[in-house]
Amino acid sequence: MTKNVTLIYGDGIGPEVIRSVVDIIEFLGCDINFDTQIAGLESVKKYDKPINDKLIESIRENKVALKGPVTTPVGRGFRSVNVGLRQEFNLYANVRPVKNFEGLKCRYENVDLVVMRENTEGLYSGVERKEGEEKAVSERIITKKASEDIARYAFEYARKENRKKITALHKANILKLTDRIFLDAVESVAGEYKDIELEEMIIDAACMNIVMHPEKYDILLATNLFGDIISDLCAGLIGGLGLTTGANIGKDAAIFEAVHGSAPDIAGTNSANPTACILAASDMLGYLGLKEECTKIKRAIEDIFKDGKTLTKDLGGNCGTKEFTREVIARLK
Ligand code: NAI
Repeated sequence: MTKNVTLIYGDGIGPEVIRSVVDIIEFLGCDINFDTQIAGLESVKKYDKPINDKLIESIRENKVALKGPVTTPVGRGFRSVNVGLRQEFNLYANVRPVKNFEGLKCRYENVDLVVMRENTEGLYSGVERKEGEEKAVSERIITKKASEDIARYAFEYARKENRKKITALHKANILKLTDRIFLDAVESVAGEYKDIELEEMIIDAACMNIVMHPEKYDILLATNLFGDIISDLCAGLIGGLGLTTGANIGKDAAIFEAVHGSAPDIAGTNSANPTACILAASDMLGYLGLKEECTKIKRAIEDIFKDGKTLTKDLGGNCGTKEFTREVIARLK
């Protein structure tokens, strides 16, 4: 049966990396009908808002979306499309696996962890106000319900994926009320999963420990902002943002995307690494039940890195986005 998927090209390097994904999926002959929608700057121009009604309706109907990165103006302008969509569809679990690729040289070996980030509240709740000209306040909203939801997702994921330990990252020594609620929720859910170890670590010490000994970590569970920062840090452990993918999962919808942003510094130069987005698409195919196609794509990427001859600029090579895509297609078997 044909599967309908909402497709958002995004901006910056978005159209380049999403084009790569669409070429691969078309080559595989997956029975997918892409419903292309716009978001962010393009949507503001057409509809006067970054998230338009057609986009919302499309995701509500299809329940699955593949999304390219979307630029968010810094310190002014509209709110993040990513944050908005995650809240709109209660995509409470942001799942970002970080694993070394065999053959790909980087600072560390044996990194195999997953960043599991609460995706709907915390400091990204969007409750921010000016108090006079020289003061502004952001509210960090932490609820028992959202904390329990992400904790349960993490423990269930650990069981399913045969992972042994969850490290909950917090700053409860300073953020005594909010992070106490988070930790209480995590601890109460952990009580139902005696087979999985729970460890708690203050976020600043965790940053140092992860950089020194990433091999000691399995699942990192965090509130929204800490999870956002730590997942870029973890991407750096295995070779950078061009490689890491992230799924936004809710009970009624899921949006698959790369961890990276729109990379305006390299947009339009055919030098973006499409791997992260290709892997996001592969995860999406798995989610849709197209397991064989999901595996084929992952194997093709792994083969390329094992060979080490076809690398994009971020990984020290000189292969362009289009050429890399052609190589992936050539290796789909
Ligand atoms: P960024 O992730 O776009 O770029 C950071 C650095 O990594 C840049 O040097 C960039 O060239 C490099 N990079 C990122 N992806 C790459 C790829 N696939 N291949 C090769 N190099 C890559 O982060 P930045 O610059 O902080 O944000 C740019 C814009 O993206 C902002 O407006 C931000 O709000 C937005 N953003 C959007 C996200 C999304 O749509 N999911 C996620 C993160 C940021």
